[in-house]
Amino acid sequence: MTMLTSFEIRQKFIDFFVANDHTLVPSSSLVPVGDPTLLFTNAGMVQFKDTFLGTEKRPYRRAVTAQKVMRVSGKHNDLENVGPSPRHHTFFEMLGNFSFGDYFKKEAIAFAWRFLVTELGLDINRLWFTVYRTDDEAARLWVETGAAPDRVLRFDEKDNFWSMGDTGPCGPCSEIHYYLGDLTQQTAAGVNVDDDYIEIWNLVFMQYNRDSQGALTPLPRPSVDTGMGFERLCLVLQGKQNTYDTDLFQPIFDQVQAALHHSAEERAQKYVSYRVIADHSRAIAFLVGDGVLPGNAGRSYVLRMLLRRAARFGVKLGFQQPFLADTVDVVIQTMGPHYRELLDRRDFILRVVRLEEERFRRTLVTGEELLQEIMTRPDVAASRLVPGDEAFKLYDTFGFPLDLTRDAANDAGFSVDERGFQQAMRDQKERARSATRFVAADNAALQGYVDLLEHLREEAVLDSQGVEHLYYETTRVPTYVAGLFVNGQAVNSAQAGENVEVVAPATPFYVEQGGQVSDTGWISADDGAWQVQVNDVRRPVPGLTVHVGQVLVGAVNVGVRALVSIDEERRLDIMRNHTATHLLHAQLRQVLGTHVHQAGSLVAPDRLRFDFTHNAALSEDERLRIEQGVNDAILTNYPVTATVTTYKEAVSAGAMALFGEKYGDEVRMIRIGQTPDTAVSKELCGGTHLPETGIIGLFTIVSEASIGSGIRRIEALTGRGSQKYAQQRMMALRHTAGILGANEEAVETKAADVQQTVQDLQREVARLRQQIARRDIEQILTQATAVNGAAVVAAQVAVSDIDTLRQMSDWLRDRLGPSVVVLGATLSGRPNLLAAVTADLAARGVDAAQIIRAIAPVIGGGGGGRPTLAQAGGKDASKLPDALALVLPWVKTKLS
Ligand code: ALA
Repeated sequence: MTMLTSFEIRQKFIDFFVANDHTLVPSSSLVPVGDPTLLFTNAGMVQFKDTFLGTEKRPYRRAVTAQKVMRVSGKHNDLENVGPSPRHHTFFEMLGNFSFGDYFKKEAIAFAWRFLVTELGLDINRLWFTVYRTDDEAARLWVETGAAPDRVLRFDEKDNFWSMGDTGPCGPCSEIHYYLGDLTQQTAAGVNVDDDYIEIWNLVFMQYNRDSQGALTPLPRPSVDTGMGFERLCLVLQGKQNTYDTDLFQPIFDQVQAALHHSAEERAQKYVSYRVIADHSRAIAFLVGDGVLPGNAGRSYVLRMLLRRAARFGVKLGFQQPFLADTVDVVIQTMGPHYRELLDRRDFILRVVRLEEERFRRTLVTGEELLQEIMTRPDVAASRLVPGDEAFKLYDTFGFPLDLTRDAANDAGFSVDERGFQQAMRDQKERARSATRFVAADNAALQGYVDLLEHLREEAVLDSQGVEHLYYETTRVPTYVAGLFVNGQAVNSAQAGENVEVVAPATPFYVEQGGQVSDTGWISADDGAWQVQVNDVRRPVPGLTVHVGQVLVGAVNVGVRALVSIDEERRLDIMRNHTATHLLHAQLRQVLGTHVHQAGSLVAPDRLRFDFTHNAALSEDERLRIEQGVNDAILTNYPVTATVTTYKEAVSAGAMALFGEKYGDEVRMIRIGQTPDTAVSKELCGGTHLPETGIIGLFTIVSEASIGSGIRRIEALTGRGSQKYAQQRMMALRHTAGILGANEEAVETKAADVQQTVQDLQREVARLRQQIARRDIEQILTQATAVNGAAVVAAQVAVSDIDTLRQMSDWLRDRLGPSVVVLGATLSGRPNLLAAVTADLAARGVDAAQIIRAIAPVIGGGGGGRPTLAQAGGKDASKLPDALALVLPWVKTKLS
């Protein structure tokens, strides 16, 4: 029998469930959308969370996925395990079949058995089945399906109850384990204990929702969520003992081996480094593919750490040059056939990896320098011990790893306080761990919203979709007040001056999404008896939208009729900016190339901001062409239309989709242009747009800059903002012309002329100053006093900068031969003293620095320098003559 490839195994799983009426749903992004509390997508069910909870409807009740997953913290997933352990990974794939209130335990168990035993032919004498302690039904079903009764084992919550996090959908589960060892050694006692028994598939019987108090409430309909470790399944089917030996990882090993010219023995011996590089290269490829960029916080930080860890193991292994782009490229090539986004974004991914690895290599150099500096600190040098927190800072902030710190310190005869390092590391981990945990929402306040939502649904005021959003259709909706909250408490009435949250069954307000800011506006009585000013809108729970604002006049009560209306002029400005953003995006790709992807955007009333991938500053010509292109599209006055279609169709029609965006089964495509074929822009977007581009008026780029590695930001204006900007600039130009006495067309040449004149004059002034100084020299020379073969000069001069003062002392010394020259001057209002002594006299004990120290206190200052040249500043310029008068007696005592 030929061995199945990983690609074939994945496909078999998908085909099996599709043949059993499951809808194939694409993997969602590693970056969970709409869930800022979850660091990474950590299970196949994450994209279906709302579907399990019943707050999101999908057009199917059975689904199958191969999901990209990342786990970087948790009890078995400390990064240190990845490499030494034969089966731990940061990135992995989870195969899953799901039922949303369709089938339950019986079918889930039957499907799992049929797939593993009938389809794939796994040996039933190696399979073990675990069920939740009290789940008699699941235990019975396994036996009925074909399992031997003594192979069905019971475990408690720790192993057989699954929750997504501290809160959310959960339920008892049943796991399938596979025994890898010698058949004669197999015992039930090894399951969940011994490494030879590996868990391959977890079937979760989703029955409850857990709230933040820990209380379980039944889900609307019992459901099924399963997750199979794809790498482990491949291990079993490819007859390996560790996942790294499967064809998912071996091509990366091959790449490393070839690049380093390692023998088979070296490759086997250095397996930890090989594994780290292979695991992390996969994580890096997929993270960057999903739009994560290296940085210092959250997901970006995780990516940076993975990349650095891989680079460091590479350095250990002998890579002299950056190498990660090559291993990441192997991932792109081998995984791309299933995860197309990798191939689509290949250039971008490789560029990000290259830049970051190069930066890290520079970091290594900086780290060594910093360490040397630390070791010269007196306290450190005395103890010959590098403090733990310093070593940790090198590691954490500068990416300089402990083993390198240890090596470099040892070379210099130092050691490192590794306990202190570990402590600092533990503190940091604790901080990171709490960041990955689900943040239990403020339950009391949330409960009020949930209660209202449920009440309105029971009363049939709201359907399962919740509050009706009419922002595409209208700007004002006559409706009524369905709920009020003050300070998070549901109330029946709110008075003038109170801050309030208002719920209405329908609203024209747009709720911030996709970069477009929320609308503002008003909710008011038909007769104007009361009015609420709305400053913001929020969606605290799916389905419920609240208008946040203040009662301006009167009192508002639950149940009264109300007109909900947005600030139309502000919204129009927002729409100008949004439609212009699409034109800008299209122009950037036109002028700079299709490697340009949106990396973020803000669509506000007063401006738009667009972040995109590109790794060079725009030339003046590029910037002009982009701005002109957008303005041409505005003048052409293209129609803008929205159509609802499927994600697949939209993308195959060439629509631009965004990194990390969650697209449902139906997507909305904004087209700018007369026909699909001649459109200048097609983009998936849920925002509000103008009916035609002409309304934008005028588009102006006001700035363009880098905001991170390979990411640039453009800020621009449209409509009224553009006009005002242009007016202000014209006015400034007129005023400048007035000041220069030129007409507006000639301002540039005139300004250049003036600039030239200023430079000429500055040069002339400098020349004249020198001339004056020379003349002063003659005068000063006549005052020189001879003391024991030395000429002594102490004089106040009128110069305006320190350089001229120094120059004068040089000239005087040259003219006088063996001499002591002390000059005083007032520079920018402050007294200064300069002492110059020829070397022969300095050797005889006439020290310029000593002179300065002797006389500077007189002017209220201090200073110092070398024996031949010293200098001081002070406070009281009127005392300069007194200070200078001390020079001659001082020199006399020295030379007598
Ligand atoms: N959601 C379940 C898991 O991650 C299947 O194990």
